[in-house]
Amino acid sequence: MPNAYDIIDHTYDVVVVGAGGAGLRATFGLAEQGLKTACITKVFPTRSHTVAAQGGISASLGNMGPDDWRWHMYDTVKGSDWLGDQDAIEYMVREAVPAIIELEHYGVPFSRTEAGEIYQRPFGGMTTEFGEGPPAQRTCAAADRTGHAILHTLYQQSLKHQAEFYIEYFAMDLIMNDEGECVGVMAWDLDTGQIHRFRSKMVILATGGYGRVYFSATSAHTCTGDGGGMVARAGLPLQDMEFVQFHPTGIYGAGCLITEGVRGEGGYLTNAEGERFMERYAPSAKDLASRDVVSRSMTMEIIEGRGVGSENDHIHLHIEHLDPNLIEERLPGIAESAKIFAGVDVSKEPIPVVPTCHYNMGGIPTNYHGEVLTKTNGDANSIVPGLMAAGESACVSVHGANRLGSNSLLDLVVFGRATALRCAEVVNKEAAHKPLPKDAGEDCLARLDKARYAKGGTPTAELRMGMQKAMQSHCAVFRTEDSLKEGIKKMKDVWSGKDDLKVSDTSMIWNSDLVETLEFENLIEQAMLTIVCAEDRKESRGAQARDDYPDRDDQNWMHHSLAWIDEKSGEIKLDKRPVNLQPMSNEVQSFPPKARVY
Ligand code: SIN
Repeated sequence: MPNAYDIIDHTYDVVVVGAGGAGLRATFGLAEQGLKTACITKVFPTRSHTVAAQGGISASLGNMGPDDWRWHMYDTVKGSDWLGDQDAIEYMVREAVPAIIELEHYGVPFSRTEAGEIYQRPFGGMTTEFGEGPPAQRTCAAADRTGHAILHTLYQQSLKHQAEFYIEYFAMDLIMNDEGECVGVMAWDLDTGQIHRFRSKMVILATGGYGRVYFSATSAHTCTGDGGGMVARAGLPLQDMEFVQFHPTGIYGAGCLITEGVRGEGGYLTNAEGERFMERYAPSAKDLASRDVVSRSMTMEIIEGRGVGSENDHIHLHIEHLDPNLIEERLPGIAESAKIFAGVDVSKEPIPVVPTCHYNMGGIPTNYHGEVLTKTNGDANSIVPGLMAAGESACVSVHGANRLGSNSLLDLVVFGRATALRCAEVVNKEAAHKPLPKDAGEDCLARLDKARYAKGGTPTAELRMGMQKAMQSHCAVFRTEDSLKEGIKKMKDVWSGKDDLKVSDTSMIWNSDLVETLEFENLIEQAMLTIVCAEDRKESRGAQARDDYPDRDDQNWMHHSLAWIDEKSGEIKLDKRPVNLQPMSNEVQSFPPKARVY
């Protein structure tokens, strides 16, 4: 009985989708300004994946030594391998300092120095004097539970500002009108099974990354790129999808994160020969080189037979030499995770680790106000009216080809806040809403029904596993033409497998089979875009390491990739958008491309 749904209608000025760091910061920023705001979230806000961020949030406070936002900007541009937009990067690093003070005032329980200031630790790729000075201590930490502390504080602020939440609602599709404007969003209340249609003047997507396209990921199972999936189905492009970050230290086997803060506090990596091999790959920064560099070096050690363990397939991370008091005070969470997930007592033995999918640099293209961009009539900066994005689901692009550790929590709070500020300028509280299209939501419900009544022979979990294995084998740390082509072939088979999907539960209340099927649709669209863009980009830059094109090629490839996918056929269209090398102000000069060594 397709489409026999009673739809519950709502009208808001702004609807935020997602209640992680970016979504919450946007939500209470909007509520604070008197905009009628709803936040839709598929998990309880404090269960959002931001809770898992460990090591910290960067800002040039200079509490532990000299620092300057320009040095932070230089490090971020270099970390991005010159694919980050320098106006957006300037905006982020300058806003970092007031953003941290604001968080402190909201009540985030940051760790403290002897002098009572916010404690800051070293993190990979963060330096002083434009890379010429010693490592910067720039990453503000609440022990190794910084994301947890920030998320809970932001939720408290949202409650204080009486923001309205729709909790355990799964956002399914955007409502677009014939003029290409976004006028709302369709959602499914997982608890009651009812369908809700939210009409709004602005939708802000803050749905996080799509790490679950890989077999091994530090991302929660909920990181299924729901915002990116909705945008792709609305016929809009996604940007820089080939750039996927592998965190050097996921726990071998379990994939859980062991923070880079461990190396910031003095931890180091060794191979099967007990060698501190990072000294060979990054003589200056060593274990605190940028993440892509460390992950590649670890993978090289494993490929060349110097991995540890019976299958020589992982690496050791040591903190046995650190003062137990330091571990207790600054790294209690990872000591617990290592015990639970690897059976290791960190005071006696090394932690077994392996590079693990951690972050998507690519996503929904936006400017630094959070406005979603598309390419129309040759203009790659055309704004999509009524639609914004922030956080990992967005590609602003501040991280370019590789994100520096601790710039992610920063991105969430800075750009979550930026969307709220922009809405205050562009959303007119008094104006009437645009009319909803006559058939608003019908395509979405047809898609829901197709999944709900899918009677083929392949369970969603089987297809998802096919995708995750193909992506892990063919589109991970090192990539080659042949392997990527084979991966694309496998992914096309997975895509065709959708015609044979089997969903066994047709109920609408807590139907995890159906939710996972809709999540899989979001994942597979973005997996296809990722692997096709990776094959297309014939160079190595940041997280895209092509064995067959080992060098960065600024002449031909210093541009963002844009990619559209046809929801029915899976056909992909590629285009590009120039990188902005010009900063936002004249208080800093552009950082021109140069070789990236650590
Ligand atoms: C970590 O603590 O290593 C993860 C934080 C981040 O990815 O920025």
